Amino acid sequence: MEVQSIRFCDRSANVDLYKLQALLNKSAFWAIDRRIEDLRIAVDRSEPVVSAWDEEKLVGFARANSDGVYRATIFDVVVDCDYQRLGLGRKLVETVLAHPCMSRVERIYLTTTHQQSFYERLGFVTNDSTTMRLDVANRLKIHQ
Ligand SMILES: CC(C)(COP(=O)(O)OP(=O)(O)OC[C@H]1O[C@@H](n2cnc3c(N)ncnc32)[C@H](O)[C@@H]1OP(=O)(O)O)[C@@H](O)C(=O)NCCC(=O)NCCS
Repeated sequence: MEVQSIRFCDRSANVDLYKLQALLNKSAFWAIDRRIEDLRIAVDRSEPVVSAWDEEKLVGFARANSDGVYRATIFDVVVDCDYQRLGLGRKLVETVLAHPCMSRVERIYLTTTHQQSFYERLGFVTNDSTTMRLDVANRLKIHQ
């Protein structure tokens, strides 16, 4: 496989959701068994959505939400296990960061369980002090 032949695309309409589901099931432990209809909502409401293709095979994906100026968050960065450590993850994130929705944003967040070293190489720093989260289970609890 020639890395140079991998094609990057930032048009969400070009993402085949069944191929995305298969990629996530194979290579993204946090996104197993996501439903097609939910993926459709997430992809439709994200910008940019970046995908990497080896001919017709989806081999990488990343998406973000941004207010265009102050804050943005990157989600679901994944490279097919068989294509990792070839520079595709770096190119995916760089393509997300270069998109007009992201390029002038003051601060960009993401969460990662194991890939701190990868993101540090791209300029991200660990941020222990400011991150909080509300999971749906807790949300239901506080309204009971
Ligand atoms: C994390 C992930 C996206 C990296 O993609 P990749 O294509 O393998 O990474 P790249 O080849 O572009 O690597 C870029 C740099 O990070 C380094 N790197 C990549 N993975 C690394 C790891 N696990 N630990 C340390 N360094 C790593 C590479 O050596 C390279 O370093 P260099 O620029 O100094 O040469 C990919 O491993 C993946 O999809 N993992 C499973 C899903 C996941 O955990 N995603 C992150 C969720 S937030």
